Amino acid sequence: MDFPEYVKNAKLREWVQSMAELCKPDSVHWCDGSQEEYDKLCDEMVESGMFIRLNQEKRPNSFLSRSDPSDVARVEDRTYICTNNRHDAGPTNNWMHPKEMKVTLTKLFDGSMRGRTMYVIPFSMGPLGSPIAHIGVELSDSPYVAVNMKIMTRMGRKVVEILGDGDFVPCLHSVGAPLLPGQQDSTWPCNKDNKYIVHFPEDRAIWSYGSGYGGNALLAKKCFALRIASVLARDEGWLAEHMLILGVESPAGEKTYVAAAFPSACGKTNFAMLIPPNTLDGWKVSTIGDDIAWVKPDANGILHAINPEAGMFGVAPGTSYKSNPNAMDAVSKNTIYTNVALTPDGDVWWEGMTDAPPATAIDWQGQEWTPGCGRKAAHPNARFTAPISQVPSIDPEYENPKGVPISAFIFGGRRSTTVPLVYQSFNWAFGVYSAATMGSETTAAAAGKVGEVRRDPFAMLPFCGYHMGDYINHWLQFGRSIPNPPRIFNVNWFRKDENGNFVWPGFGDNMRILKWIVERSHGQAASIESPLGWVPRYQDLDWRGMEDFTPEMFEKVMSVDRDNWKAELLSHEELLDKMYDRLPKEMHYIRELVLSGLWRSPEQWNLPRDDQGMLVDA
Ligand code: GTP
Ligand code: SPV
Ligand code: MN
Repeated sequence: MDFPEYVKNAKLREWVQSMAELCKPDSVHWCDGSQEEYDKLCDEMVESGMFIRLNQEKRPNSFLSRSDPSDVARVEDRTYICTNNRHDAGPTNNWMHPKEMKVTLTKLFDGSMRGRTMYVIPFSMGPLGSPIAHIGVELSDSPYVAVNMKIMTRMGRKVVEILGDGDFVPCLHSVGAPLLPGQQDSTWPCNKDNKYIVHFPEDRAIWSYGSGYGGNALLAKKCFALRIASVLARDEGWLAEHMLILGVESPAGEKTYVAAAFPSACGKTNFAMLIPPNTLDGWKVSTIGDDIAWVKPDANGILHAINPEAGMFGVAPGTSYKSNPNAMDAVSKNTIYTNVALTPDGDVWWEGMTDAPPATAIDWQGQEWTPGCGRKAAHPNARFTAPISQVPSIDPEYENPKGVPISAFIFGGRRSTTVPLVYQSFNWAFGVYSAATMGSETTAAAAGKVGEVRRDPFAMLPFCGYHMGDYINHWLQFGRSIPNPPRIFNVNWFRKDENGNFVWPGFGDNMRILKWIVERSHGQAASIESPLGWVPRYQDLDWRGMEDFTPEMFEKVMSVDRDNWKAELLSHEELLDKMYDRLPKEMHYIRELVLSGLWRSPEQWNLPRDDQGMLVDA
């Protein structure tokens, strides 16, 4: 095999050579990461029908791709953590012995790239050459993967040069659809019958077969930056999390950074770039990352976070100039759209993008679509891939290899009932409990039923590369090892009324909650004690410009109902029991404490209090 002259790393040469021998592609292409290469690959995909070039005036340098209808989301039931000891993968991950899995996969990968090009995609997670960055190399037979990886990571020749003879995470990917001579290719090749998304944490290796979509195929993202990195983080004393990172600047110019974990399709991208209401004059939000955070303590024990990614793979439906102008501007050019609708003028559209739908369109499956036709124009998990540098609110510290100091962690699920709009945990251990037992209604980001509440500890259920009980313990010990750990908050933007409408307006108005969180982190804003933690009273939030949101409405999004919470805590028990063998004892004690706290009078935490939070006579 011929190697580019800059490829000196012996392990890399050997691995690429042996994988090419196994997968038998027609050719091997080493991605240099240049713009010319990107343009050429896009042109070739337009030629082959995998890409549709959008209107150059309306969406410069942008493309639409339509996936196979069977390949539209992550496949959690086909995702494996293959540790030598079954118990190290834990009860929340699928497991198979690595030896057995490698036999299965080797058979599948044998000849899987016939008729295709194998792209060698070297990538860095984190700024090139930064001491916290990690390097991986993906081999993929999908040009769609190659161009998406160019946007999502720092990718190409420079990475190989910086790698030198160092170590990298090998990531093997095939769409699992070999082409026999004379066979016609599909515009979205994938394997409809067989998919495997497999992690070998002890070898630090990833093998993915059969899917061309998102987190199944862009192996730098969920597979590497979360599942493999969470194992590195456990071993080395840091955190790899499903978190956005944002900066808040107060009118006085004080900057505070927070990181927030919400499950898939529960608002990270939106929160990361929210635009505060202009009535809250002087408050500004800037963006560091929208999906993944790597958090490490510095020499003084202060936590610093980086965004290991360079792009966004964001949910399109619901994104509009009303809900998220920053994202709309970010995707105005140089963007790859997957499974959105195509308008007659060569632009894109999705549900919620504009108030009035287009009169006609071609839907995500390539069929004629009209507003009344009874089908969705875009798939609910339709996505855009865009460089994060195109987000107007990008923070100047985004490329800082040291990361930004984190003052608060926020956790939030999608809950139409039960969970209040915001509360602050009493301390680190209570915060770990609240995050560990977080529930959320399932979304279209993963294949399967949508809208069912499931426990999603730390929004990491599908992304933790080891035993969830050990993960919770890692968090607990981590907070104890640093002098002044960030404060921990919980939010829920998704409470609904009797008619099924969201009570809280969300989006930009989430700034009102964020402001309270930032002030609390600095020991400033007032609060009172509830059974779950510290909560704001109506008068503790800034309502300028939103005076029509009454105290009664506030009560609706803040109420903690005793019977609902008894049921909620019972369902926590179900999760905790699953990992009983490795769960820190604190989790059981805190559950008992929260349960006992429910026997205060439900009115008690709404009684008038003074600035110190003490009860005062009405
Ligand atoms: P992943 O990329 O899958 O990890 O998703 P994400 O967590 O980044 O979610 P995203 O910000 O893309 O939002 C997903 C959906 O939630 C979109 O349809 C949004 O419109 C909706 N959403 C986001 N924030 C809010 C909010 O504050 N209130 C309401 N009601 N909906 C929201
Ligand atoms: C998620 O599902 O959390 C995503 C999209 O961010 S994917 O890349 O498919 O994981
Ligand atoms: Mn995500």
